[in-house]
Amino acid sequence: MTPKTGDHLVGNWLLVIAAMIFGMVVGGGHVRTIGAGFAVQIWKPVFGFLPPASDAGWKYLFALYQKTSQFQALHPAMTLTQFKAMAWPNILDRDWGRLMGIAFIVPLAVFRWQRRISDRMTIWLLFIFLAGAAEATIGWYMVRSAMSPGNLSPSPLWLAPHFVLAMMVFCAVLWTALSVRNPVPVLVEGSAHLRPWLTAAIVLIIATMLTGSLVAATGANRVYNTFPLMNGHVMPKNAWALHPVWLNLLANQGTVQFEHRVLATITTVVVLIAAVQGLRIPTSTRVRDLFLLLAMSVSLQYILGMTALISGMNSIGYSHELNAVLVLAACIACRHTVRGTNPIIRYLVTKAAE
Ligand code: HEM
Repeated sequence: MTPKTGDHLVGNWLLVIAAMIFGMVVGGGHVRTIGAGFAVQIWKPVFGFLPPASDAGWKYLFALYQKTSQFQALHPAMTLTQFKAMAWPNILDRDWGRLMGIAFIVPLAVFRWQRRISDRMTIWLLFIFLAGAAEATIGWYMVRSAMSPGNLSPSPLWLAPHFVLAMMVFCAVLWTALSVRNPVPVLVEGSAHLRPWLTAAIVLIIATMLTGSLVAATGANRVYNTFPLMNGHVMPKNAWALHPVWLNLLANQGTVQFEHRVLATITTVVVLIAAVQGLRIPTSTRVRDLFLLLAMSVSLQYILGMTALISGMNSIGYSHELNAVLVLAACIACRHTVRGTNPIIRYLVTKAAE
């Protein structure tokens, strides 16, 4: 590999992995939208990729789901055929995760064997792989929480780490892919002041996405369907009704919706300031296009959020979720283009690529 030009094969492989993570968000979002997250109460990480082969196998899986409070409270009249329709997206989503694991580890072994990747990079990628495995484990415990009496939907206490870790893995894979493709940072004149803005924007986007997933998980999208006020108030009256108080930040519908609105507004302002500053730098068309994409995607995100809330339409909520990942990806790409202005990052990235 020549560090100056980068290894496009390895970089493209990592871009495919990032796209597969996006695919997982698509699949996971669909499972959540149809309320099927608790359907498959069995986890065999390696050999569980096949759906039940016989009617008896399906009946066994259905019997497990029948033990959940969700089944007893919401779907007591569900038939086996209806259960299968609910379980299939789950099975496919998990298989997508398995495929992603194979698509990661097999090429990693081959590239390592071909000496296309350095020791440091191998350790880093193995670390990302382990983070992916931890993500799957947290996901399983979230599904398993269905067995707790009275639990009708995934607990925010599992959902929050599941979501944040997924986004961190996405950021790490995308950043590494871009760095492998362009290992030597290009100095973009006059862009130093942009770094803190874009770093803050990435943190804010992830925090906003987290609160958004709490909105979806707690069903807070079905209450306070007015904007900008929440049924005539800036903040809901019962915002601190749950005990302990901190639980309101994760599980009180009004509070999580309020924090999502506030964070989304701050995030959108910060992202737009960063994007406008980026557009003012005299640089290449490619870089300008990236900043333009960032500004457009975040504006669209805000509009989709308001529309999802006011209309209550699942399809708009779903587009809002997918577009959030695009906003994050665009922000990472912008941040990556100006990384050359930091000598420490420039040194670390160049070393990792050697
Ligand atoms: C930078 C801005 C924003 C980002 C990054 C963002 C991100 C997200 C994410 C990731 C979700 C989770 C979707 C899921 O798990 O299904 C979500 C849900 C949601 N967001 Fe936002 N959001 C933003 C702005 C807004 C705004 C301004 C509103 C309007 C008040 C809003 C309202 C909602 C609603 C209602 C949901 C639940 C959608 C559903 O489940 O149908 N969002 N958001």
